[in-house]
Amino acid sequence: MKVAVLGAAGGIGQALSLLLKTQLPAGSELSLYDVAPVVPGVAVDLSHIPTDVAVAGFGKDDLADALSGCDIVLIPAGVPRKPGMDRSDLFNINAGIVKNLVDACADNCPNACIGIITNPVNTTVAIAAEALKAKGVYDKNKLFGVTTLDVIRSETFIAELKGKSTSEIHVPVIGGHSGTTILPLLSQVEGVSFTDEEVAALTPRIQNAGTEVVEAKAGGGSATLSMGQAAARFCLSLVKAMQGGDVIEYTYVQVDGSEDAAFFAHPVKLGKNGVEEILPYGELSAFEQKAKEDMLEGLRGDIKLGVDFVNG
Ligand code: NAD
Ligand code: LMR
Repeated sequence: MKVAVLGAAGGIGQALSLLLKTQLPAGSELSLYDVAPVVPGVAVDLSHIPTDVAVAGFGKDDLADALSGCDIVLIPAGVPRKPGMDRSDLFNINAGIVKNLVDACADNCPNACIGIITNPVNTTVAIAAEALKAKGVYDKNKLFGVTTLDVIRSETFIAELKGKSTSEIHVPVIGGHSGTTILPLLSQVEGVSFTDEEVAALTPRIQNAGTEVVEAKAGGGSATLSMGQAAARFCLSLVKAMQGGDVIEYTYVQVDGSEDAAFFAHPVKLGKNGVEEILPYGELSAFEQKAKEDMLEGLRGDIKLGVDFVNG
């Protein structure tokens, strides 16, 4: 397996690269790319950790070399939020960054699975899809918005609330990755039940958890360490599936014929070629059904913004 991290010198990029260096299967290669001049140093630093994963760093002008032969590309490149901003405020800077990086993926590793982390994910995934289509290499089964952070946060908050081990708690989170488009399905969490008041408090806590971190970091950025862990979990699941394992993760993918939106986080069975099957998300409670209906127009607008960015 060859995995590239684009934006590898950043807060997420460094945490993610560390986790991949220590957890990818022996014999894997890790390719670290960033426009920041520190990236070769990050690679040298990681290379001193004794695991059988080879690490190489690539600077600004070496994107093609970084991507050549990659099986998986993870993209956390771009700017994070500051207090008072929405994820959509990042569009002006991050849209172009994602488009350029995905164009390079199309040119240098057209068969790779691509995981988009850069915000606003609801929109940047649509940008990536249109960029790949324009290059004639789009495979909807190989493009993912990484929404795993919403899942791990939900697991943590619910385990804390119910006094359970996090290993016992599995939470479906569907929709998109911003505000009310993040929809945790608390009615489907096995082994615990919630009062209406708990659902009414926990749902917005999960939806606003990113803002909780942004405010706590007080201008120093957004979630990096928990996101590094979330992206590593997603990547390792993908690696396992590509090597023949049986894995289901919630992730934001293109869903054909959906009445929800063109892209929507679903439970997805991963396989050798990325998405093997998009699974239904099951029955919603009345609260969840209303929350879904209320957010769909916004999510569809976010996606359209991405489509229009590429197609003019
Ligand atoms: P950061 O500023 O710490 O790091 C970003 C890195 O991207 C920097 O090292 C920068 O040099 C690099 N970069 C910028 N332009 C680049 C380009 N064209 N090519 C390669 N690298 C480039 O930011 P961060 O905290 O790591 O966050 C990165 C992004 O991830 C933000 O957009 C943030 O909103 C998003 N994010 C997403 C989730 C999620 O759940 N999907 C969670 C947290 C953060
Ligand atoms: C998160 O959920 O933490 C990320 O999307 C970063 C942010 O801006 O909130």
